[in-house]
Amino acid sequence: MDNPKVFGIVALKGGVGKTTTVANLGAALAQEFNKKVLIVDANFSTPHLGLHVGLVNPNYTLHQIMSDKHSVYESIYQHSLGFHIIPGQLAPVGLDYNKLKEKIEPLKEIYDVILIDSSPSLNHEMAAAMGASDEILVVSSPDYPTLSSTLHAVKIAKESGTPIRGIILNKVHKKRFELCSKDVSEASNVKVLAVIPDDIKVLSALSKMVPIVSFSPSNEVSHSYKKLAGSLIGVNYKRPIFGIKRKNGGEIETYD
Ligand SMILES: Nc1ncnc2c1ncn2[C@@H]1O[C@H](COP(=O)(O)OP(=O)(O)OP(=O)(O)O)[C@@H](O)[C@H]1O
Ligand SMILES: [Mg+2]
Repeated sequence: MDNPKVFGIVALKGGVGKTTTVANLGAALAQEFNKKVLIVDANFSTPHLGLHVGLVNPNYTLHQIMSDKHSVYESIYQHSLGFHIIPGQLAPVGLDYNKLKEKIEPLKEIYDVILIDSSPSLNHEMAAAMGASDEILVVSSPDYPTLSSTLHAVKIAKESGTPIRGIILNKVHKKRFELCSKDVSEASNVKVLAVIPDDIKVLSALSKMVPIVSFSPSNEVSHSYKKLAGSLIGVNYKRPIFGIKRKNGGEIETYD
């Protein structure tokens, strides 16, 4: 296959960070790597991607594309951070979710990367996101209930036939009682691509409806998302060093 372009971000558990991941990867790919990137809210039941990036009550949505009211091109918004977005809307009405793939397909000509946010429910919405994607990213967090859902999501993803790129381990507190990335990769047989710290700054960024990679670029979460964004397009993210100071007259300490 050519380079994968469409990534479905999935999880079978709500609130693990799918939408946060889509918004931040979108912003990182556009800003840090200068890529043409589209983020799509295919969480039809509870669409919140717009609210993560300051797009409130949009007039044009994926729902309208899916019900053939508007063309896919009419419903693309350009964000000031450089990425494009197709938002969702509440109150779905009998959509044929299988159409998602055919609606997204022509956009592969235009964009370097397309990221699809999805529903946490084991239903046709999730299947549609998986079916429309070239590769799947499964978001998890380091606790047993989420791991159990993650293993189920991995099984469904494997059955869908769309390759799994890897797992994103989010909301990590770096505590001994938590599962580590080795535990998760061994249990699932899937590589853990990124470990994203839990940080209240993510909530602070959300309150301003700005992805943390833009809200607080030197935050650890932001570096983790930028590194992951780079790995998706085969580029090594080099963390910038903003200052070097000499400590005790000899030892060099770097910080950013
Ligand atoms: N690394 C993190 N550190 C702290 N808070 C986080 C982190 N990632 C996500 N959150 C917060 O967790 C909450 C849920 O995140 P998000 O909406 O991205 O999850 P989701 O998987 O898309 O949820 P849903 O299944 O409802 O669509 C949000 O308030 C978000 O700001
Ligand atoms: Mg979400």
